[in-house]
Amino acid sequence: MTETTVRKQYNQLAAVYDLRWRNYIVNTLSFLKTWVEISPTDTVLDIACGTGEFERLLLAEYSSQQIVGIDISEEMLAIAKLKCSSYPQVSFQMASASRLPFDSNSFDVIVSANSFHYFDEPLAALKEMRRVLKPDGKVVILDWCKDYLICKIFDLVLKIFDPAHKQCYTQNEFHRFLQDENFVVCRATKIRFGVVWGLMISCSTSNLHKM
Ligand SMILES: C[S@@+](CC[C@H](N)C(=O)[O-])C[C@H]1O[C@@H](n2cnc3c(N)ncnc32)[C@H](O)[C@@H]1O
Repeated sequence: MTETTVRKQYNQLAAVYDLRWRNYIVNTLSFLKTWVEISPTDTVLDIACGTGEFERLLLAEYSSQQIVGIDISEEMLAIAKLKCSSYPQVSFQMASASRLPFDSNSFDVIVSANSFHYFDEPLAALKEMRRVLKPDGKVVILDWCKDYLICKIFDLVLKIFDPAHKQCYTQNEFHRFLQDENFVVCRATKIRFGVVWGLMISCSTSNLHKM
């Protein structure tokens, strides 16, 4: 149900998304790119890739990076495809985070930025990430963090006024999800961007391959 509403909202927003959220996107995705430490030979999956801004940033550094982006909004994906059209090794597909259309053990690095709070089925999404991650791969998720008072307020307000909004999490809640889905959190931090935005980021590896 929420997925349909989110898709509709982002299909309507797609044309103005990059402009409206320019500062936020540049700040958060540049931070993510530095933090995640992707090597040029890594195959990367970007879950809820939106308009492909993270892909643009990665390709500016390594033009031959192998990247696949998925999103539920065809209009966001259309912009991403246009931006990356001169990179044949970069592809985009319409898919839900809960049902990834990829074989198991396919990706070295999985990233997801500014989207986890939209996911209808966060545990199913993490399970799918673990399935498609290579045994020595890593999952890096950046999202709003309810440990910040302002995010707590946003969460309450959005739950009332924005039908697309699902749920923000505290860092503890988020790490519990990861542990429940057999991930080990190897690195994590919280970070503020300006006065308003408080986010959390974590890097996790699969626990199952180590058993
Ligand atoms: C705030 S945008 C973030 C886009 C991009 N990651 C960025 O940081 O600019 C949220 C994106 O999540 C996508 N999304 C929400 N729920 C999703 C789901 N369950 N599966 C895949 N994509 C989803 C939306 O369509 C939208 O493009």
